[in-house]
Amino acid sequence: MEVDLPRYRIAAIPGDGVGPEVHAAARSVLEAAANALEFGIDWTEILAGGAAIDAYGVAIRPEDVATAEATDAILLGAVGGPKWDDPTAKVRPEQALFALRGGLGLFANLRPVAVHPAIGAASSPLRPELVARVDLLIVRELTGGLYFGDRTEAAVGGTDRSAVDTLPYSEVEIRRVVGLAYGLARQRRQRLTSVDKANVLATSRLWRRIVEEMRSDYPDVETSHQLVDSCAMLLVKDPARFDVLVTENLFGDILSDEASMIAGSLGLLPSASLGERRTAHGTFGLYEPIHGSAPRMTGLDIANPIGTILSAAMLARWSLGREDAAAAIEAAVVAALDAGFRTADILPAEGDRSGVTAVGTTGMTQAVLDRIGVGEAVA
Ligand code: IPM
Ligand code: MG
Repeated sequence: MEVDLPRYRIAAIPGDGVGPEVHAAARSVLEAAANALEFGIDWTEILAGGAAIDAYGVAIRPEDVATAEATDAILLGAVGGPKWDDPTAKVRPEQALFALRGGLGLFANLRPVAVHPAIGAASSPLRPELVARVDLLIVRELTGGLYFGDRTEAAVGGTDRSAVDTLPYSEVEIRRVVGLAYGLARQRRQRLTSVDKANVLATSRLWRRIVEEMRSDYPDVETSHQLVDSCAMLLVKDPARFDVLVTENLFGDILSDEASMIAGSLGLLPSASLGERRTAHGTFGLYEPIHGSAPRMTGLDIANPIGTILSAAMLARWSLGREDAAAAIEAAVVAALDAGFRTADILPAEGDRSGVTAVGTTGMTQAVLDRIGVGEAVA
């Protein structure tokens, strides 16, 4: 008897540099989970970033943004590279990210930092006892602030040059991301740290006032405020104290790179960018590793695919409503790490490599694939 398997639509944006390599890795892992759990995926390929600049002269075509919007989720590798790096160019690869984030209303960027004990101890520049038990989630506002405010570029040449960036935030923008962060804190350890610079910035004072107004709606969550500079210090001094951090766009960009070092490598960390739009299965979103396109690693089969593979797990959870697939992928990643597989970025120092197998992008992907569909997650 022919049975109709559930099917989901995903926009595939491999991008530039190591993007296509890590994207292919995550795609194969998601396909393996789909096979094991009997669902199907229809992929739609989209060019964005440098690849699109070369093909079409723009970082992403409006019709491709529309195509992406008509799917259940977007899985993105990374964009950018030296070839398109001229800071004065009118067309830049990052514009694709802003077109997708802004154009599709993806206002909340979730960047979880959880530490695998063996990796944190061996690869984090912080002392093992500091990184043990770290499990935090940065919720970064993604469609406002300095990234989307008006700006005036400096004139080319001349003397006494000046430039202006502006940092706008509205109540609506603050409320929706803080509300989402509160909801997530409720499902975790019920602690929310709102990060701002209220001693200097008007937008931060508005942000703080709104968090104060909202906190009584979440009496079960312990709310605190932290200035961004002292938050940056505390992330190094005592990262285990944090549960959910919520903050504006630029602060979140900076703090999430800092926090990635707690886990041991930028290559390990996933992200989800969510908006308000619901699909038939969940919340529409864009999923990408937090690392960039790493041009110098391109084509060498050395990039760590785990950040993108874990992004695919978040995609399954949030946009497809497939907690089973998300759990299977996450369990397979942990099992591959437990078995000692290590890409170069998380390889322990020589002399400290007993039980460790050094692998490249494809080797790590295979190690994860070999562990999909086993264990309790796929009963
Ligand atoms: C990120 C990246 C981007 C950002 C760059 C590539 C524009 O650093 O996703 O964190 O600043 O948002
Ligand atoms: Mg960044």
